[in-house]
Amino acid sequence: MGLLFARSFVLVTALLVLCLLLPCHAKLSTKFYAKTCPNVESIVRAVMAPAVAAEPRMGASIIRLFFHDCFVNGCDASILLDDTPTLTGEKNAGANANSVRGYEVIDAIKTRVEAACKATVSCADIVALAARDAVNLLRGPTWKVPLGRKDSRTASQSAANANLPGPGSSAASLVAAFAAKGLSAREMTALSGAHTVGRVRCLFFRGRIYGEPNINATFAAARQRTCPQTGGDSNLAPFDDQTPDTFDNAYYTNLVAQRGLMHSDQELFNGGSQDGLVRKYSGNAKIFAGDFAKAMVKMGGLLPAAGTPTEVRLNCRMLN
Ligand code: HEM
Ligand SMILES: *[C@@H]1O[C@H](CO)[C@@H](O)[C@H](O)[C@H]1NC(C)=O
Repeated sequence: MGLLFARSFVLVTALLVLCLLLPCHAKLSTKFYAKTCPNVESIVRAVMAPAVAAEPRMGASIIRLFFHDCFVNGCDASILLDDTPTLTGEKNAGANANSVRGYEVIDAIKTRVEAACKATVSCADIVALAARDAVNLLRGPTWKVPLGRKDSRTASQSAANANLPGPGSSAASLVAAFAAKGLSAREMTALSGAHTVGRVRCLFFRGRIYGEPNINATFAAARQRTCPQTGGDSNLAPFDDQTPDTFDNAYYTNLVAQRGLMHSDQELFNGGSQDGLVRKYSGNAKIFAGDFAKAMVKMGGLLPAAGTPTEVRLNCRMLN
């Protein structure tokens, strides 16, 4: 016993010293918790399934939560930190405030995961798994999620404001926002297919349904019924009015029919560089599903810069 302890002490110390000398890059692995928390994936799924069944939009909200986490200093659960007197979190950034939802579902998963495997599974990994399950529970594809992320001890409201693209974005600025994260235009267009599920507030598409020429008139009139020219800013509309809660390729068939809801959506099919890919995805759901899954894994590989202080949070809303 004593010898074993001494040996592992030496090993751990050696690793710690190594990590101080070199950036200790967490290499993600689909087997990361195979020994330390073998049931983590079934626990996540067991909380996600009833949550999405009770409210399909929750699936969409969790997918978006993952995107908004990863685009701000990597997938590090920074978006989950509540504001405190000494920490300004990301929840009140422009793109997140009164908009991002699903924090309670992540809390519920974390509580069950902690009960099974104390202080082992990061909140960032839980979000990545929950987003994968959300897509699949809405009848979209599934994939293996590389794991081993850590939770940041910092958050950045200013980075959230700077890095998350807005609904008025041009095609060029969308390409640039994703390129800044090492994602190609093709990956940007594939990831945008997440807008085949979920809801949008009137204030984000009003300008388009009342003012833009490249919109199907029947569609514009239908959206105008619940999104008046003045007032009703928070009224919700589905991105996809045919199959609003199904993760299919309808986002792209809608774009080809000039039924993109936000300006930024229709920018992907407006005579520009992504038109061909949008047509391809609109005609082939399998190619879209495969590209989407790959791009989610790649986006999920965005990690905090070396040197960022991290930990496995015990409560996703606060530092240990
Ligand atoms: C390409 C640039 C993108 C822009 C400009 C954008 C913008 C937006 C906006 C403005 C909303 C509505 C927010 C509200 O009404 O409060 C929204 C919703 C949503 N976004 Fe995006 N988004 C983009 C990319 C993505 C990506 C890459 C994903 C995921 C992979 C995603 C997933 C979603 C989902 C699922 C919803 C619905 C959420 C819900 O119903 O709660 N978006 N997005
Ligand atoms: C607009 O969409 C409707 C289906 O709702 C379709 O019947 C109509 O032909 C479309 N209009 C144009 C100009 O494409």
